[in-house]
Amino acid sequence: MAHTESTLPLKKLQGKVAIVTGGASGIGEATARLFADHGVQAVVIADVQDKKGQIVVESIGVERSSYVHCDVSDEKQVKAMVDFTVQKYGQLDIMFSNAGIPSKSEQTILNFDFSQYETMFGINVRGMTACVKHAARAMVEKGVKGTIVCTASVVATNCKGGTNLTDYVMSKHAILGLVRAASQQLGVHGIRVNCVSPSAIATGMAANTGLTNEGVQMVFGPFTALKGIALTVKHIADAVLFLASENSAFVTGHDLVVDGGLISLPHKLVTEK
Ligand SMILES: NC(=O)c1ccc[n+]([C@@H]2O[C@H](COP(=O)([O-])OP(=O)(O)OC[C@H]3O[C@@H](n4cnc5c(N)ncnc54)[C@H](O)[C@@H]3O)[C@@H](O)[C@H]2O)c1
Repeated sequence: MAHTESTLPLKKLQGKVAIVTGGASGIGEATARLFADHGVQAVVIADVQDKKGQIVVESIGVERSSYVHCDVSDEKQVKAMVDFTVQKYGQLDIMFSNAGIPSKSEQTILNFDFSQYETMFGINVRGMTACVKHAARAMVEKGVKGTIVCTASVVATNCKGGTNLTDYVMSKHAILGLVRAASQQLGVHGIRVNCVSPSAIATGMAANTGLTNEGVQMVFGPFTALKGIALTVKHIADAVLFLASENSAFVTGHDLVVDGGLISLPHKLVTEK
């Protein structure tokens, strides 16, 4: 049902069916929980960390959440995960294509490692593309005017946040292209495609590269316009909720940067060599 501004519900996703890839931890987990708070009929957590994914499902409630083991780099697994969702819950309204990995190690173009690049692109680009493709297919088949949100990064706009993370920077630029192309093509079906671009947070992913919350603050704090506040997964989840809900009914092809003003500042980051 379409809502006018004055009748927008407090629970913004009432009755919707959502998938969150990479939902077992970090940004995905926080978003899955926020979707549940906003009344989704069901949220499917798709990840490769089975134990963590099951814990998220159990805490949301098994009556309105499921876990599916899905390696997004394998299109067959992505198709099976989307088909499972439609068979179990009737349709798919929201795809949050969020699963991604950081660079294994810093690399410049002079020492570029193609095997690292292929693993990165398999997950961050092919995986995200497969999720957009099969979500859109399922929505078009059922005539659902759904919403698709991808997780890009500030490095897609300003690679000073990851100067020597060449493969990662490239992968996130590709997500902007995916979102822009798909949003143009799917608009005719009433399907919106957007992305959210966080600056750094010490999630599982960043923590794997040795970053702590304090470390993130030390590196990024001085170059962030907003002071006295640090980025959290909840800030990203709130942005995704906006893009997934009718509050953003006329927004498509957009990159919603959530960085406290980082990329708009002309400074050089201390990570720059
Ligand atoms: N944390 C940051 O600083 C930051 C900044 C900008 C963008 N991002 C992006 O945010 C997204 C989420 O990352 P996060 O920070 O929450 O990290 P995270 O490590 O906490 O979450 C990533 C999730 O993706 C899952 N995953 C990894 N490979 C997968 C695969 N092949 N198939 C399915 N699931 C897979 C992981 O198991 C994990 O649960 C990523 O796309 C990342 O690039 C993160």
